[in-house]
Amino acid sequence: MPIYYQQNINDFTQMAVWLIEEPERFFTQKVSVQQAVSHPHKRLQHLAGRYLLPYLVPEFPTDLIQIADTRKPYLPNEAYHFSISHCGNYAAAIVSQSERVGIDVELVTHRVDKIRHKFLHPHELIEWKIETLNDLEKYKTLTLLWSAKEAMFKWWGRGDVDFSDCMRIDATAIQNTGELMATFQKGLFATRLILQYQLTDSLSLVWVNSQ
Ligand SMILES: CC(C)(COP(=O)(O)OP(=O)(O)OC[C@H]1O[C@@H](n2cnc3c(N)ncnc32)[C@H](O)[C@@H]1OP(=O)(O)O)[C@@H](O)C(=O)NCCC(=O)NCCS
Repeated sequence: MPIYYQQNINDFTQMAVWLIEEPERFFTQKVSVQQAVSHPHKRLQHLAGRYLLPYLVPEFPTDLIQIADTRKPYLPNEAYHFSISHCGNYAAAIVSQSERVGIDVELVTHRVDKIRHKFLHPHELIEWKIETLNDLEKYKTLTLLWSAKEAMFKWWGRGDVDFSDCMRIDATAIQNTGELMATFQKGLFATRLILQYQLTDSLSLVWVNSQ
């Protein structure tokens, strides 16, 4: 049972990360591939994400999951809010009976450096002092910020979000685990969000749960 990390966030919200070590048939005993996924490892990631839902909430009805036009998976009656992410050999899921949720897991990579202007506002690049960081700290910080915005994007769930304009993350000192404060703004809607994170030299995990 290779649970990499698990947390009961509150009485109604649980999350977990699975380290994938099993063959496909382990997951297909419980869940099936919802849409055609031809790449074997991507199919394994997809299955592991789905597998976590009834792992976290045994009565979770995975067979009722629908896919919105935005590609967001959801339950028609919204009995549970949920979010899924996967990268490398990790799959993560968060499930809540009461709050909208978003989760993202990312391998720390130098590749985020090339696209930082796409997802960070110029003010964020200055406030986070990205240029003053050594390479590892820079890649960890950028991956964490990317991951945080992906989690917020999934929490929002309606697509059509400019990562640089609609989401701003307050600069803070980064630890191995902690909270990020962020603002999400889209049209007339604006809210503050608290994001939780875990960060190692190789993996970033961020989740958000909020009404
Ligand atoms: C959809 C998106 C968030 C997926 O993130 P990713 O890092 O590529 O992949 P992840 O493994 O973390 O997440 C994939 C899961 O997200 C979920 N998902 C897909 N689209 C979603 C959406 N619109 N809303 C919420 N969740 C979504 C699915 O559960 C999917 O897994 P599954 O197909 O196996 O069920 C991302 O591809 C995306 O479109 N981001 C927005 C793009 C954008 O506007 N970027 C601008 C900044 S450069």
